[in-house]
Amino acid sequence: MFTAEELYIQSHIDPEGELLSRLNRDTNVKLVRSRMLSGHIQGRMLKMFCRMINAKKVLELGTFTGYSSQCFAEALPDDGFIYTIEENDELEDFINEYLALSPNKDKIRLLMGDAKKIIPTLEDEFDMVFIDADKREYCEYYNLVFPKVRKGGFMLADNTLWSGKILDESEHDPQTEGLRRFNDMVASDERVEKVFVPSRDGLTIIYKK
Ligand SMILES: C[S@@+](CC[C@H](N)C(=O)[O-])C[C@H]1O[C@@H](n2cnc3c(N)ncnc32)[C@H](O)[C@@H]1O
Repeated sequence: MFTAEELYIQSHIDPEGELLSRLNRDTNVKLVRSRMLSGHIQGRMLKMFCRMINAKKVLELGTFTGYSSQCFAEALPDDGFIYTIEENDELEDFINEYLALSPNKDKIRLLMGDAKKIIPTLEDEFDMVFIDADKREYCEYYNLVFPKVRKGGFMLADNTLWSGKILDESEHDPQTEGLRRFNDMVASDERVEKVFVPSRDGLTIIYKK
């Protein structure tokens, strides 16, 4: 269910589009933890970020059903691409079913496996990295992707408010603790500029100086 504010925003931004709307609905009907999918508002934001910096090479950690990958891909030029990494092989057929329908399928390169193992094998330098996999491992992802982001490039980290649990001192589950460590690490990293967007579940935008 959407809040009145979300419904208002959705009706005043670009539409989600027929394919993404179907993917969103199908994810909700067929899969558990469908809330992980970025959704209409954040999806349009990710596309816009990609446009704003004319990104050509994007890396995503955590594909889930491919919703955010498809949003990024909409803004990529014909010679651009997004690598998206997913370790849950039960999702592979579902992801590929929807990738096959996408007009941007040639720009999306799905890599199945653990992001921590795959990142060191990638030789490209990225304009943008979207960190959206296991919340306990955000610090490791950050350290692994940092050298692969170009100077002047961006990292976006999703769920950094974690439904407000970050601020709740009684919460000590591993995901919340992982995100606290990550937020503190980024806050004290002088190699980057950072802002927090308090939309949805918190999105940290990190600029590599
Ligand atoms: C929040 S969902 C991604 C949502 C997607 N980016 C979107 O916005 O629609 C997180 C995904 O990361 C995957 N994941 C968790 N740990 C991972 C790892 N170490 N390597 C690759 N994928 C991982 C999970 O299986 C899950 O599908």
